[in-house]
Amino acid sequence: MCGIVGYIGEKEAYPIIIKGLQRLEYRGYDSAGVALLNGDLNVYKKKGKVSDLHAFAKGKKLSANSGIGHTRWATHGEPNDENAHPHVSQNGKLAMIHNGIIENYASIKTELLQKGYEFNSDTDSEVFLNFIEDIHTNTNVSLAEAVRLALNKVVGAYAIAIISLEEPDLMIAARKGSPLVVGLGNKEFFIASDATPIIEYTNEVVYLDDQEIAIIKDNNLTIKNIEDVEMKPYVQKVDMELESIEKGGFDHFMLKEIFEQPKSIGDCLRGRLISKEGKLHLGGIADYTNKVLNADRILIIACGTSWHAGLVAEYIFEEYCRIPVEVEYASEFRYRNPVVSEKDIVIAISQSGETADTLAAIELAKSKGATILGVCNVVGSSIARVTHAGSYTHAGPEIGVASTKAFTAQISVLTMMALMIAQKKGTLTESAFRNLLVELDSIPDKVAKCLDLNPQIEIISEKFKEAANFLYLGRGYNFPVALEGALKLKEISYIHAEGYPAAEMKHGPIALIDENMPVVFIATKDSSYEKIVSNIQEVKARKGIVIAIVTEGDDVITGMADHVIEVPHVHESLMPLIAVIPLQLLSYHIAVMRDCNVDQPRNLAKSVTVE
Ligand code: G6P
Repeated sequence: MCGIVGYIGEKEAYPIIIKGLQRLEYRGYDSAGVALLNGDLNVYKKKGKVSDLHAFAKGKKLSANSGIGHTRWATHGEPNDENAHPHVSQNGKLAMIHNGIIENYASIKTELLQKGYEFNSDTDSEVFLNFIEDIHTNTNVSLAEAVRLALNKVVGAYAIAIISLEEPDLMIAARKGSPLVVGLGNKEFFIASDATPIIEYTNEVVYLDDQEIAIIKDNNLTIKNIEDVEMKPYVQKVDMELESIEKGGFDHFMLKEIFEQPKSIGDCLRGRLISKEGKLHLGGIADYTNKVLNADRILIIACGTSWHAGLVAEYIFEEYCRIPVEVEYASEFRYRNPVVSEKDIVIAISQSGETADTLAAIELAKSKGATILGVCNVVGSSIARVTHAGSYTHAGPEIGVASTKAFTAQISVLTMMALMIAQKKGTLTESAFRNLLVELDSIPDKVAKCLDLNPQIEIISEKFKEAANFLYLGRGYNFPVALEGALKLKEISYIHAEGYPAAEMKHGPIALIDENMPVVFIATKDSSYEKIVSNIQEVKARKGIVIAIVTEGDDVITGMADHVIEVPHVHESLMPLIAVIPLQLLSYHIAVMRDCNVDQPRNLAKSVTVE
């Protein structure tokens, strides 16, 4: 959470920083600020969005060739102007932006208070900065050395950038547990939480590793670790098109990303699945297939929407590979004392590859000897780097906070993994394997057909935009889809929604059903079809309003439900890839009709790098 941007070079820094902050706003959007060096140190900060900061800064002294900016998701201290970053040190000479949490800030603050320091904000970040200032002024070391010494004392996570009034040609950045990229331009350097603010200026970047410090001085980049060992910068080329991070004519990133799914799923399958030849190859995990097929069990670790993709994978792996699977919330797994052995395979799923709880859960499982495979979207992300092997989802940048195309790409990768293992293990006949490959190959076209339902779903949404509650019910493979549909609605429209296995309805949720309760059934033709038809009847008998996602041509449910959305037929294990599309659209339209900020829902952030 929190997005950071910095620029030092010959261009005007402010426009680059503001544009960069807008690109990073998915990471947090409760307050924003910039610090600019132009003979003075000018700091402008504002509660609210980056656009509020931009309006506030208008007419102020903005011309500068060096500056840093921040968009915040509050951890310490409420979102207000004082708690916004950048923070300025007590002597007025240093400005710093920080993403992360300094856990031992209270003891450092006590020490600094005893030395006479005063604080303007409630943040751990201001304490951190004054700690650096205190070392710098009292020990007479360079600023870079003061930063290094301070980093050796703090406990917690950070991505920071610091500028100094006394050394305008200097910028220092460092990371531990929060991502940071340095962009290398022509006589200019950029720093940012991810590459999106940088790609229109340069495609050469260095991803800092944990506990590394980047010192940009006199147009030179030096990288050292906190033990003072100099590291050779590993320059990589970023492969990202500018169009992929713009809205491309859509009103919202979320809608764009929903509509991109035929392509993103296609990109995910390309080069890996050749259905005509019955071939499936995931190069990233090829060396680990024997280990997986001999595994005692598979543990899947994730958060949020990625956890829902993990639930779908549980059904698929158990059915096709006959390996027991457990799906864990990373935040629970990491804080208990889980039984994990060397014969376990852990699959960590994460769109961003930066989720703090997932990262910590991976480290725990790794320390117990498990083999860790990653399913990440962001190339080069922390999770992608700490796992033993993995497969990228190749969905392209996902910017809307509510995850859509990442979910379908995750399921696509996990399905390929399971089918590859099942074929090697012999738990799936060759003809069943080949049939599933053909079905998987048909998914992008079938998703495109689902997107044609958009106008119908918009009309249905209109009828439910004032609802206070929603229930989502599904069985088997469609149960995780029910959870995901409910999560999407909660996240962006702020309507209370619950996802349940349809059969569990009788153990509680049925008490909620009356003529005001919309119930979304994911009731496609599969092995539990008759059972879910009975569940629909139970809801109708209590006057609930039924919106049913059904298989094309279903005339049984059509006669029972209030609204029917027909999706193409596909094998039941692949249905989540299809059935989730109308639910994404339903939540999107309801949120727009309720005037909610679809891409930046309140209190949420896309990348949760705090625990
Ligand atoms: C946040 C996002 C969700 C996402 C979850 C896990 O809560 O708002 O959309 O599903 O984090 O993120 P990850 O990047 O690990 O998939």
